[in-house]
Amino acid sequence: MDEPIVRHMQRENDGGKLSRSFPATFDSRIGFVQIEVTTICNFACFYCAGREMPQHHMEPVLFDEILAHLPAMRLTVSLQGEGEPTLHPRFWDMVKKVTMVGKHPYTITNCSNIDINQTTRLFPQIGVSLDTLEEDEAERIGRFGLPGVLGNLEQLIAAMGPKRIIIHSVDYGQPLEALRVYIQSLGIDRHVVQPIQPKADYSKRYPELLDNSNERYHYRCRYIFQPSMRYFDVNGRMMPCYSIKGTDKYVSIEHVGTQLAQRVIPDCCVGCREITMRYA
Ligand SMILES: C[S@@+](CC[C@H](N)C(=O)[O-])C[C@H]1O[C@@H](n2cnc3c(N)ncnc32)[C@H](O)[C@@H]1O
Ligand code: SF4
Ligand code: SF4
Repeated sequence: MDEPIVRHMQRENDGGKLSRSFPATFDSRIGFVQIEVTTICNFACFYCAGREMPQHHMEPVLFDEILAHLPAMRLTVSLQGEGEPTLHPRFWDMVKKVTMVGKHPYTITNCSNIDINQTTRLFPQIGVSLDTLEEDEAERIGRFGLPGVLGNLEQLIAAMGPKRIIIHSVDYGQPLEALRVYIQSLGIDRHVVQPIQPKADYSKRYPELLDNSNERYHYRCRYIFQPSMRYFDVNGRMMPCYSIKGTDKYVSIEHVGTQLAQRVIPDCCVGCREITMRYA
């Protein structure tokens, strides 16, 4: 059942004030809220849609407002979008605030700029991105300074133990076996391997990696019909998932639902893995 929670908060050309427009809803089945605290990054991953987005940090006042409107239910709040969250100058304040409102903080980091003590103290669990153990390959794909990243990861494990760390990898066709062996050797047992996103918003950066010719839509998006998350982009716009990057094409959660129910692909969802079947 939906209950009113927060209005879309969008920055307009009104001297920097936050204006509130459309009423939005929050489904009581939702257990995960993701907040894009920044689009700025010190890496340049070739597959990252964020590198083409306007580069800025979320306004602290907007972050506070989103938190203040979250319903009083058990929620994980992940501070992460298409940028490196730890680069936000108020990142640690934001993590503390998540805890103060009774939610569980989470984030995914590129592990280049990690504060070991604060991470250990404030995060029950944390995600670290790692795609390869080859230093040259890491440089080539834009994940710079791999020895430093691995050094930080190993310090993190020493401080908080391996069971609180989740490794996230993008599968873009690279060999993954050595990485799997390394992760196991560290005592980490959660390794999430995500196939590279074929959605148009992302795949324009790597058209050569994907063959969409045998793509068919099935229209059954879990994020719409069994919602478990809400995503707030860096401007405070609430969306049903983390995959909509061309937000000019996005109307509303209800609009996406109505179109999918009519077997029409909303412009903001073209090519999304969630609603496609691929045949070899
Ligand atoms: C966008 S990043 C933001 C957090 C942080 N900068 C990092 O890289 O861990 C969050 C996760 O999304 C993954 N990701 C980014 N672009 C992707 C794509 N095109 N397909 C699949 N996963 C992607 C990243 O590898 C990372 O694990
Ligand atoms: S480290 Fe994260 S935010 Fe930065 S370019 Fe890579 S995927 Fe994007
Ligand atoms: S972009 Fe994908 S996951 Fe998001 S609402 Fe559209 S189909 Fe669902």
